[in-house]
Amino acid sequence: MSRADSPFLRACRGQPTERVPVWFMRQAGRSLPEYRAARGEGSILDAVRRPELAAELTMQPVRRYGVDAAILFSDIVVPVAAVGFGVDVVPGRGPVVEAPLRSRADLARLRPLEPEEDVPYVIDTVRALVADLGDVPLIGFAGAPFTVASYLVEGGPSRQYTRTKVLMRAEPALWEALLDALADMALAFLRAQVGAGAAAVQLFDSWAGALSPDDYARTVLPASRKVLEGVADLGVPRIHFGVGTGELLGLMAGAGAEVVGVDWRVPLDEARRRLGPGVAVQGNLDPALCLAPWEVLSAEAQRVLERGGGTGHVFNLGHGVLPETDPDALSRLVELVHATPPAGAPRP
Ligand code: CP3
Repeated sequence: MSRADSPFLRACRGQPTERVPVWFMRQAGRSLPEYRAARGEGSILDAVRRPELAAELTMQPVRRYGVDAAILFSDIVVPVAAVGFGVDVVPGRGPVVEAPLRSRADLARLRPLEPEEDVPYVIDTVRALVADLGDVPLIGFAGAPFTVASYLVEGGPSRQYTRTKVLMRAEPALWEALLDALADMALAFLRAQVGAGAAAVQLFDSWAGALSPDDYARTVLPASRKVLEGVADLGVPRIHFGVGTGELLGLMAGAGAEVVGVDWRVPLDEARRRLGPGVAVQGNLDPALCLAPWEVLSAEAQRVLERGGGTGHVFNLGHGVLPETDPDALSRLVELVHATPPAGAPRP
């Protein structure tokens, strides 16, 4: 089997596979004792700037779980931090911005990303990983313009996105310029990762579910489409993901991705109906259930596999692995997914 024939890449393209491929968002990280041991203290951004360490942290879940894809150890705020916007990631909290974006003058702090100069360490990490991973594909990723903008405008994690929504409506020209600048950065960042050997890309619009379909369609979708269409010529599968995006799935299908990631709120067969034909799905086990007894977790995983329909399904959680998760539960989950014949396939 070559990498191009790997179950993960085949499922992304909607081709039949012998088993449903599986990986987990946030598969690297605090749920793993070997992560806590290797990473040390300090900001995750320091770890990202050390290619040997970042490559090791990427490999840990691949070794432990035997997942079908690796995801680059990085963060959605790496590009904005690299151009000097003044962002850090606080453990247990998330990205925090020194001086949030409040006016047009603040846009000057978002100069274009030049990957070779600004994030050479990410390119080095990808190169090192591609050499080590063999047939396991590496997923590169970027934050989508809206989700990154929400951190820059709010100054940190948010529940209501009040300032972001007010800026979007009250200063539409500034909002459009902001999302366009972030789209260009995400695009340059993804192109650099694929150029260095990433086999697929995921665009994380984690918080887009906070928006109404109208606002999403008018003010956010064009910027995400710019990113996704801007990598189309590279020929790698594109995954587009957000949380709470049930009402947006039809719109997201039009943004230009081969795969749409879905959280646990919408069953995958219903998600397929909303997405329309020709789009693969990724998801969508509720990460909270990874903390439940195995009988509960395994039954739910079976339901996800059935409703995923087999072909064109990449098994994942509906959002990231929770830090309290027992890694052994994820090991059993990978075994179960791999041992279950794809739904709809002829039984041996
Ligand atoms: O296995 C992987 O997925 C590793 C790579 C990865 C990280 N962040 C490393 C990380 C990925 C794909 C991300 C994406 C990311 N970062 C998103 C989109 C995905 C999602 O979960 O919706 C978002 C919104 C961020 C911003 C961010 N960074 C948050 C909200 C946090 C959590 C704060 C916390 O500590 O719980 C971070 C920190 C972060 N990024 C950690 C890791 C492993 C954990 C903390 C650490 O080790 O310091």
